[in-house]
Amino acid sequence: MSCALTSLPEWAAFEAAAKQSPIHVHDLRIIHAAGIDLDISGQGSSPALSDAAQALLDARGFAPMRERLLSGGIANVTEARAAWHTALRAPAPIKEVAAERQRLNAFVRLADSERRWRNIVHIGIGGSDWGVRLAVSAFGYAGTWRQVHFVANIDGHAIQGGLSGLDPHDTLIVLASKSFTTAETLQNGQRALEWLQASGVENPYEQVVAITARPDVAQAWGVPQAHIFKLWDWVGGRFSLWSAVSLTTALAVNADVVAGMQAGAAAMDAHFAEAPTERNAPVQMALAGIVNRSVLGYGSLNIAPYDFRLSNLVPYVQQLEMESLGKSINLDGQAVGVATGPAVWGMPGTDAQHTFFQWLHQGSDGAPVDFIVCQHADHGWPEHHKSLLANCLAQREALLKGKTYDGALKECLDAGMTQDKAEWLAQHRVHPGGRPSNLIVLPRLSPYTLGALLALYEHKVFVQGVIWGINPFDQWGVEYGKVLAKGISAELSGKAADADSAAHDASTAHWVKSFGKSL
Ligand code: F6P
Repeated sequence: MSCALTSLPEWAAFEAAAKQSPIHVHDLRIIHAAGIDLDISGQGSSPALSDAAQALLDARGFAPMRERLLSGGIANVTEARAAWHTALRAPAPIKEVAAERQRLNAFVRLADSERRWRNIVHIGIGGSDWGVRLAVSAFGYAGTWRQVHFVANIDGHAIQGGLSGLDPHDTLIVLASKSFTTAETLQNGQRALEWLQASGVENPYEQVVAITARPDVAQAWGVPQAHIFKLWDWVGGRFSLWSAVSLTTALAVNADVVAGMQAGAAAMDAHFAEAPTERNAPVQMALAGIVNRSVLGYGSLNIAPYDFRLSNLVPYVQQLEMESLGKSINLDGQAVGVATGPAVWGMPGTDAQHTFFQWLHQGSDGAPVDFIVCQHADHGWPEHHKSLLANCLAQREALLKGKTYDGALKECLDAGMTQDKAEWLAQHRVHPGGRPSNLIVLPRLSPYTLGALLALYEHKVFVQGVIWGINPFDQWGVEYGKVLAKGISAELSGKAADADSAAHDASTAHWVKSFGKSL
């Protein structure tokens, strides 16, 4: 259980210290973790804040909770289960995890040796989708010998587009669903199966693979037992990338990508478990995030990967952070009392610069930014990479240092403007500066560094959950929407009781009626 954060003297001390801890633009603070560098020089700091942070972590029982997480104890208390995704990437995994890894590798080896499955249709949503999309786009950006289509949305256009142009005789349907009850995945899977059947495929079910924690349900659906890969109750959906859900990545790119990501994530797990607070990258990132959100009041966090291959990192981190931390009730069932998980959004730089960076630089709210960049590129155009790096550093510096009125005035006068015009225009050119950021530098984009990066975010989210006193591993809000959608679907099909329809607000009732008539 977790008492109210705001009742703790350690919180009051942390809050007070955070307010007195500016960003020191002349100090360099870089943490090296699992092969990547986290530069937190762009966050406020002071010795008092460090001391208060340690006291707060101690007061929240961080060390034992981390131990519980990493050893497979009940970390997800509202669902009474472990959140043991770290077990999936352990270098020497438990027996059942090792066995599934072997089965996956054998499946991929066989498919490769037979040159089978030129097309993969990966059907899954949320955690059963984003991680795989991210890995495939990160390492298959220049094309893969198998064509991979992702279908997540329940919008029929998604599955229509996902199947179009593919040869059904050489297409593997991958159904990724922990629960095997998700409406999107089951409906899209059904359409894919019908598509196989309609094209005269001899044994359509032989072209379907499932990854799920409910093998019984998948088997009842028709998937052959040998094509069902297991994940476990103790793996949260948004952490399932580390499981056989990555079969698609292994088929599309290769199995080494999956193993490399697991190795990088495991290295970050070890760092998280062992590094002292001051040198612990996930912990420091979490603390900075709490200062930005709960003390300074920033409502959102911007993710700016300066790497085109990481465009799917944005929705990946968005789900990880927002599904995990989009809560305001603590484990005791009381209001947390401070602002919790920020809205997470972003876009790769440099596109982002031409889309919303204006708002980051001079808007009234601003947002902390996580800049992510690779020191070395994997293409042969150093000019491009130089420009990319320059843009990343420049944007960050502009947010950090800002531009004063005097600096802007001088610029205008130097450009030959009259005093009056210069004074007027200079006001528009002022940048407030002092906007917090992290800079995460990967030596280059490899499965290992991407794995480490994702684990960095996972552990950061966990630490924030501990400090806020919320469970980052459930998602009751999402579940409620699913239940309502089920009821409305029944109404649209004319199968609901009158009492159900009467329970709606006026607007919903109107549109249920209207849509029902047109279906
Ligand atoms: O969006 C809610 C959610 O429960 C996610 O946590 C999960 O990743 C997704 O739905 C898909 O669930 P499943 O893998 O069970 O189909």
